[in-house]
Amino acid sequence: MLNKIIFAIDEVLDKSILDNLFEYIYGIKIGYPLLLKIGVNETINLVHNFIKNDKEIIMDLKLADIDNTMKSIVSQLEFADSYIAHSFIGIEGALDELKKYIDEKNKKLYLLASMSHKGWNDNFYPYIKNVISKIDPYGIVAPATKLQILKTIRKDFPKKIIISPGIGAQGGEFGDALCYGADYEIIGRSIYTSKDPIGKIKEIVKLQEEKINVC
Ligand code: XMP
Repeated sequence: MLNKIIFAIDEVLDKSILDNLFEYIYGIKIGYPLLLKIGVNETINLVHNFIKNDKEIIMDLKLADIDNTMKSIVSQLEFADSYIAHSFIGIEGALDELKKYIDEKNKKLYLLASMSHKGWNDNFYPYIKNVISKIDPYGIVAPATKLQILKTIRKDFPKKIIISPGIGAQGGEFGDALCYGADYEIIGRSIYTSKDPIGKIKEIVKLQEEKINVC
């Protein structure tokens, strides 16, 4: 079975629902909404099975601060495997030290190359590309809503893991990002707002499989 879904949890879910989705999920992405609603300890309890079984836990706080502050944030969230940061903050005094810190902890850094919403300005991509090249993160976040820019990012960074949000609720079609170079599709609301999350995730996996068979 295809295992290409990173489940974005931005709402408080029943742990049993999450555990039932386990086998269909490559990893989990956690952001401010969940952390602020239930706190760090409850979040750890919620995703306990995923931590225990080494599924990737990605912390999506879109870090965009000076090095010291970002390192302090990461140090509070060591249960995660990976952290997403903005690229636009630049290298010296920010991403250079963050990368070093995350490397020392044997964790992973993802940098944002573009965003999935309409207002994001890709005219800055040459600057972002330069930052990503110099920092050399583990992975990149690139949008499923803008398949041409996703394709460009894949061409520019052939060896990086690319994770792609914007599918379902934001309009991207299941499986399209995989065809345009993403390694994983980040999907949240389409699954957790469904009356039948297990049925929905099975349907999504089937759609992804059908799509990648013809792309
Ligand atoms: P939904 O519910 O829309 O969840 O399927 C998508 C998740 O991804 C986040 N998101 C982004 N994260 N770059 C990111 O790093 C983006 O361009 C982007 N677009 C959406 C969103 O916050 C939610 O957690």
